[in-house]
Amino acid sequence: MIVHPAKLIRGRLTMPGDKSISHRAAMIAAMATGVTRVTNYSTSADCATTLSCLEQLGVHIERRPGEVTIRGVSTDGFRQTKEPIDCGNSGTTMRLLAGILASQPFKSTLTGDASLRSRPMARIIEPLRMMGASISSSDGRAPLVIEGQRPLKAIKHELTVASAQVKSGILLAGLSAAGQTHVIESQVTRDHTERMLDWFGVPLAVRDGEGLRAITVDGPARFAARDFSIPGDISSAAYFIAAAALLPGSSLEIANLGLNPTRALFLEEMRSLGFELELADVREECNEPTGRVVIHGHGGCRRSLGESQESLADTTPVTLELVRISTAIHGARIPQLIDELPLLAVVGSQIEGGIEIREAAELRAKESDRIANTVENLRAMGAEVEEFKDGLRVAGPAQLRGATIDPRGDHRIAMAFSVAGLIARGETEIKDAECVAVSFPEFFELLESVVER
Ligand code: S3P
Repeated sequence: MIVHPAKLIRGRLTMPGDKSISHRAAMIAAMATGVTRVTNYSTSADCATTLSCLEQLGVHIERRPGEVTIRGVSTDGFRQTKEPIDCGNSGTTMRLLAGILASQPFKSTLTGDASLRSRPMARIIEPLRMMGASISSSDGRAPLVIEGQRPLKAIKHELTVASAQVKSGILLAGLSAAGQTHVIESQVTRDHTERMLDWFGVPLAVRDGEGLRAITVDGPARFAARDFSIPGDISSAAYFIAAAALLPGSSLEIANLGLNPTRALFLEEMRSLGFELELADVREECNEPTGRVVIHGHGGCRRSLGESQESLADTTPVTLELVRISTAIHGARIPQLIDELPLLAVVGSQIEGGIEIREAAELRAKESDRIANTVENLRAMGAEVEEFKDGLRVAGPAQLRGATIDPRGDHRIAMAFSVAGLIARGETEIKDAECVAVSFPEFFELLESVVER
């Protein structure tokens, strides 16, 4: 795909259904009794993978444009598969399905593509083993061979990695455990599973205290089907929001967008960088906050030198030193921005002082090593970047120049650097651009529909 520089972005869009919520809707509906109608199901390849994995396990699914119906088999009605279950590129499919299969009284094998087979699975294997499932893997990587146990043992597990996938896998297993399963997180991660279980009427408690959050489910649980409507994907919208924010004169509205606070930190981050964003019509639909976002572009950052996030006192005199202080993103903000960090690095290259991202080593365990991949491609476009074990620092503002981008099969890198291509001088070639279909098959078409040159 060749991306040409753009003058501005103008238009109104809606995003396809949220990928994280769609995976959960399909799996939780499959564990319910009765038929659930899911509207605005994600168009991503990853969510199609989840549907075919569930079909392989004996769940009847009908697909219509914009709608999927799922005939639940309850928590114990899944059928053994003849072949290994192929989770493709999708970590969410593998880690959540592992939680469901941990209680099925048969042996299953979960596998995936080369990227997924290289990703860490010990984080989900260990708690599921503690619950009584027998799981073998090749050194903590897929293929995973799972022999379920019913009922599972209820456990209290403190997450060792801030991961919503692991939390969700354990909670889904907890639905087939005898007693209360507690998952404790020290950094809040996306809470779609908790909200959706509550929507389906599963008793669930969430308690905050002493810097920790504990989520408790009671098993064994039986629950009935309930229709669900999926909001637009905020992680997909982020590319459009960034592009509009960075191109002066742009004006973009995105309606029906998921605004769950554990996912929407990107909007706050953009605001604190000085970009203009408005929210309107915010309401809850199916337990998920949803609304409309309006963005007006003004190019680089409006933030004045004294306003860095590095807690500078108002009275601090503006000196050349301050110019070099970058906006820092780290700590508890990281899990809530995890999928937007490569894009924020691109945005960082356009703001006064640049951006520093730290305590984000998890990025190396995504569909690609997203730290190395972002650093390499930003450098290819002429940005000055420093790489750390746990993050990166990019200097800004920089005039990016068109380059050949190799996203290494990673959809989020391909999209982040397409945005970079819009603000660069010259043409940018995105190799292997089809990989965007993993989360957002319509990406380039929608982008073309709102770009003015
Ligand atoms: C997801 C959680 C995140 C995120 C991924 C989707 C989810 O992964 O990066 O794209 O749907 O739960 P981790 O939970 O491993 O951080």
